[in-house]
Amino acid sequence: MSRQIARRDFLKTTAASSAAVAGASLTSQLGIAPRAYAAGKEVIKIGLIGCGGRGTGAATNALSVKPNVRLVAAADVFEDRMESSLARLKESFPERCDVPKERRFLGFDAYKKVLESDVDVVLLTTPPGFRPAQFEAAVEAGKHVFMEKPTAVDVPGVRRILAAGQRAKEKKLSVAVGFDLRHEPNHKECVKMIQDGTLGEIHHMRAAYNNAGVWVRPGQAGQTEMQYQVRNWYYFNWLSGDHIVEQHVYTLETINWLKGEAHPVRANGMGGRQVRIGKDFGEIFDHHFNEFEYPDGSQLFSQCRQIPGCWDSGYTAYAYGTKGYAVMANQWDCSIHVKGKDPSVWPKRSSGYQVEHDDLFASILEGRPYNEAEFNAMATMTAILGRMATYSGQVVAWDDAFNSTRSLGPERLAWDAEPPVKPGPDGLYPCAVPGVTKPF
Ligand SMILES: NC(=O)c1ccc[n+]([C@@H]2O[C@H](COP(=O)([O-])OP(=O)(O)OC[C@H]3O[C@@H](n4cnc5c(N)ncnc54)[C@H](O)[C@@H]3O)[C@@H](O)[C@H]2O)c1
Repeated sequence: MSRQIARRDFLKTTAASSAAVAGASLTSQLGIAPRAYAAGKEVIKIGLIGCGGRGTGAATNALSVKPNVRLVAAADVFEDRMESSLARLKESFPERCDVPKERRFLGFDAYKKVLESDVDVVLLTTPPGFRPAQFEAAVEAGKHVFMEKPTAVDVPGVRRILAAGQRAKEKKLSVAVGFDLRHEPNHKECVKMIQDGTLGEIHHMRAAYNNAGVWVRPGQAGQTEMQYQVRNWYYFNWLSGDHIVEQHVYTLETINWLKGEAHPVRANGMGGRQVRIGKDFGEIFDHHFNEFEYPDGSQLFSQCRQIPGCWDSGYTAYAYGTKGYAVMANQWDCSIHVKGKDPSVWPKRSSGYQVEHDDLFASILEGRPYNEAEFNAMATMTAILGRMATYSGQVVAWDDAFNSTRSLGPERLAWDAEPPVKPGPDGLYPCAVPGVTKPF
């Protein structure tokens, strides 16, 4: 308490000169300060780590929560990405975005500098391969966290997220994961109705995330192989986990959620790369199909495909029960169909993307326990289980998969370091071959 008072005295004297970023660091006074923010007298300072598309979006959501939220520090590995993101944020929030040159950090260790600065909350929005190390460090530094899904790309990473999530609970830090659907009102109502038995016993589910694919960032002259892979990160497993993890985790988390936070006990699957086979598509598959079995014997039929010109399902989750079925799609489009009754359909209400930040900051202000790390770690693990099954062609049990010690990341992170996967003489990267590739 005396530390808190001393700090507040200090702030009173310096507030005028550094008005834009002044304010006691909430995280340096854990368990004491949160209520001070409710009065709206102090700022909540955030640091952005990974200033890409979603990082800019997440910062926009965070800065929209309250006028006293300020972006004060940023980290990225690429200057152009950081500068364009900060320029956009400054344009949208001229008063709330205060990141001078000395608080713009570049490089693989840049996140540590943000953690060393006096921020209360960090937004972890890099490619997911970096998430476990950055989340661990953020919790260690006593910061509240918003981190994007997926939270890892391999099983050791999942275990690190679970362990750091537990430490965050002990340290009373709030942890939010970018799974907006848990905060979107239609999904919340729909899932509650399913869990309350509206559809009777759920005997099978379907999950689809099919679309034309995402951006490609071709190699540039003068890049090292590491620079190229980190730029074009989507197509390398050590960075993205493959699109079944990077994107379809979203749908899989919905299914685990509606099953009462259950996870599958085993998976079998098939997949491959049929269309995206050039060198700029790295090593990931372009389609996966899995059957996941849940502990109660119910089955999830799951598909994700990134091939142009095919059925574009977007994100869609279905649950089929003895009394009817439910459909959840497109961020808010939910309906429940019970035999013999009119369907329950909800109009679009608020955006889960904003509400997830409103909820996070409310938990910080109120000093309320808030921790979503485990949900997403389990969904990430579900997606990794699916990838193990499609890459190997084997039936893979959760318990065996969860014991995997295989880390996908490189030994060393530096622009001149060797990435864990390298192209052959033809410029193509080796990729998984079902029947040959081992699941773990
Ligand atoms: N919840 C959602 O709806 C949603 C939507 C889009 C993306 N995402 C997730 O957000 C994450 C980022 O995706 P994106 O679309 O913003 O990608 P992006 O490529 O636009 O942004 C990633 C940023 O991280 C930077 N970066 C890379 N390595 C870094 C490191 N080691 N340290 C600091 N910065 C680093 C990149 O330079 C880039 O600016 C992914 O996990 C993705 O799945 C979630």
